[in-house]
Amino acid sequence: MDWGLKNRVARIIRPDTGHTVMLAVDHGYFLGPTSGLEVPRKTIEPLLPYADSLMLTRGILRTSVDGNTSTPIVLRVSGGTSILGTLSNEGITTTIKEAIRLNVAGVALSIFVGSEHEKETLLGLSDLINEAEEYGIPVLAVTAVGKDMARDARYLGLCCRIAAELGAHIVKTYYCEGFEEVVRGCPVPIVIAGGKKIEEGDALQLAYDAIQSGAIGVDMGRNIFQSEHPVAMIRAVRAIVHKNVSVNEAFEIFNSLKNEK
Ligand code: 5RP
Repeated sequence: MDWGLKNRVARIIRPDTGHTVMLAVDHGYFLGPTSGLEVPRKTIEPLLPYADSLMLTRGILRTSVDGNTSTPIVLRVSGGTSILGTLSNEGITTTIKEAIRLNVAGVALSIFVGSEHEKETLLGLSDLINEAEEYGIPVLAVTAVGKDMARDARYLGLCCRIAAELGAHIVKTYYCEGFEEVVRGCPVPIVIAGGKKIEEGDALQLAYDAIQSGAIGVDMGRNIFQSEHPVAMIRAVRAIVHKNVSVNEAFEIFNSLKNEK
């Protein structure tokens, strides 16, 4: 692997554990001021020390994150749609030149397998990889799931494999029953999204099951920043991802940290 590419991947996936806790705060790019992210800086700042990388758009990076941060950035470069329109009709919103100027560790784009715009989003991924690789920038492909898609191992396995075949360096998907099969069929590292906010104990269980099934980490948003105790939550997730603790131990960590100032 090209040195620059390898070095950037090592900024996203910690070489000492082979795992990563990415904090996803890119929701506003199609959802607007998502609950918990109304004032992004307020949400991001206390969590930054505990995130191995931050996934967000250039607008939120520029306005809501200090330029002197050492936290690696995975820049979402796809969008152009909203919850009011056809979500799968995304295009590229941000150039590689801009990504380089922002000194990112990687770029991210969503693919919509099985949707009306499947082909455009898959070719969009290929184009992005072709361009990003010229500069040694890794691409994270997000397997977006439309309302009508089943979140099962067959479908997610299909999406992840296609993303890897097209050259994605990391794939982000959803956890599902039989996740080992999804991992087995995907020759590049997989991180999982957290999905809609659930109870903290359940979200920790989700992270644990994903890691046990072979995910190399999480790219979690709402189950961290929508928690009443986001810092305690991200620290508990870290313990699962990097220290291999049990769900009970992680929940104890969450409970012992949640009233810390
Ligand atoms: C949307 C995304 C979001 O960043 C991601 O899914 C958010 O994570 P979470 O589901 O944990 O809130 O990539 O396509």
